Amino acid sequence: MKSELDRVAPPLAREPIILGAGQTAFMGGKVRTKTLRDLAGEAAAEAMEAAGAKAEDIDLLIVPQAMGGIILNQANTSPLIAEHLGLVGIPSIRLENACASGSVGLHTALTAIEAGWADTVLVVGIEIMSGISTAMVQKVLSAGGDATYEVPVGATFPGLYAMFGTRIIHEQLGGDFKQGMEDLAYIALKNHHNAQYNKKAQFPFTIESLAQKRGVDDVWEFLNNPEFNPIISWPLRLFDCSPTTDGGAACVISAKDTAASYSGFAHGAQIIASAQSTGNMPQSLAPTLSSLPAARLAARAAYNRIGLADDPEAIRKRVSVVEVHDCFTSAEVLAIGDLNLFPRDETLAAAREGRTAIGGEIPVNTSGGLKAKGHPIAATGLAQIYTLFEQLNHEVAPEVQVNDIDLALAHNVGGTGGCACVNILQKV
Ligand code: COA
Repeated sequence: MKSELDRVAPPLAREPIILGAGQTAFMGGKVRTKTLRDLAGEAAAEAMEAAGAKAEDIDLLIVPQAMGGIILNQANTSPLIAEHLGLVGIPSIRLENACASGSVGLHTALTAIEAGWADTVLVVGIEIMSGISTAMVQKVLSAGGDATYEVPVGATFPGLYAMFGTRIIHEQLGGDFKQGMEDLAYIALKNHHNAQYNKKAQFPFTIESLAQKRGVDDVWEFLNNPEFNPIISWPLRLFDCSPTTDGGAACVISAKDTAASYSGFAHGAQIIASAQSTGNMPQSLAPTLSSLPAARLAARAAYNRIGLADDPEAIRKRVSVVEVHDCFTSAEVLAIGDLNLFPRDETLAAAREGRTAIGGEIPVNTSGGLKAKGHPIAATGLAQIYTLFEQLNHEVAPEVQVNDIDLALAHNVGGTGGCACVNILQKV
């Protein structure tokens, strides 16, 4: 029998290489301007071009897609996209694991490559959340939670992540919520700061600049004003939340033995660990509210796969840049703890002290994160990979470029930790 860690992050004997990655501009708003086909076409074209791949090179198409069946009455998305991309004939899978769909798609691509059924796989995550009210978006999103035990009692994702935030502030600050809300705001300030350099971000501006636009010079006065930063679900305010987003992201992955024949190989990124795990769906069954056990397990399994000690100092020595699932600022705090980037009782302080900022001990969410880059559910995990691929190739703006990267890590969560993925990349 395999060990739990080996089941969660199996060996990658064929040494999978990401040959190319692509991402559409992320956008929000009440008016729908793109179709699923548009988003898939844009993201896939960029990834295929970067890889130097043609349609006939693709053995399998995987389409992470979460909400279209409900919002757009469009399911069976993988043949739709296969046809649009000129891939009719090959096998295709549409796959849904809530906000982790993109990373589960990537992990599934690796299973096909490891089995030898596919040499080269295209994964294209797409989501449309515009064109309906926020209340309706939240109702549809709640399908990623537990429809029997949580949704009927009014649990929403902002509500559940507020509960995590409350618990973390209680544990780390003895219930000093004034300080705790300020600490969470530091995460939003950092992620908006980084997003100003991301031309594909939904909110490519700092909160400071927005405050000034609204006539407020002091950013804390702006953040503490309920007119500008209203409570969404206490203690989370508007600027603690990711927005609703339309977007697509893609990557082309090939086994090392076939990857070398593509022009993209020279700027390829090897996936050296890919972990996917499962946690409790209703939080009433979860053993803790200040950690997502699925993410903790995925992190431990990924570190174990590459022989990296599960110790903050050891991890920070090797992992140079991280994209985490900050659907809410409290989620970034959970992620930093679950990845063991800092001791669990220091995760709020790490945010406050700039230890996760560019130039800090370990830069987190150089893209702007879900908070400011945007969060198109099923595209998010692949957009994290897109950013790390660009980081590894020194293709991001100099202001957010991390130099001397050894390992790059992506952390992606589905729902409130029903599933979680951790992928670790290294330049070929
Ligand atoms: N951060 C910063 N600004 C935001 C924002 C966010 N998360 N969401 C919206 N805004 C801005 C809009 O750009 C708009 O600005 P404008 O007036 O200058 O045009 C303004 O706030 C109002 O936008 P609107 O869409 O009407 O806001 P809303 O109150 O209906 O929705 C949230 C705000 C936070 C409730 C909504 O974005 C949301 O549900 N986010 C969470 C999504 C989620 O749960 N994802 C899954 C996670 S697991």
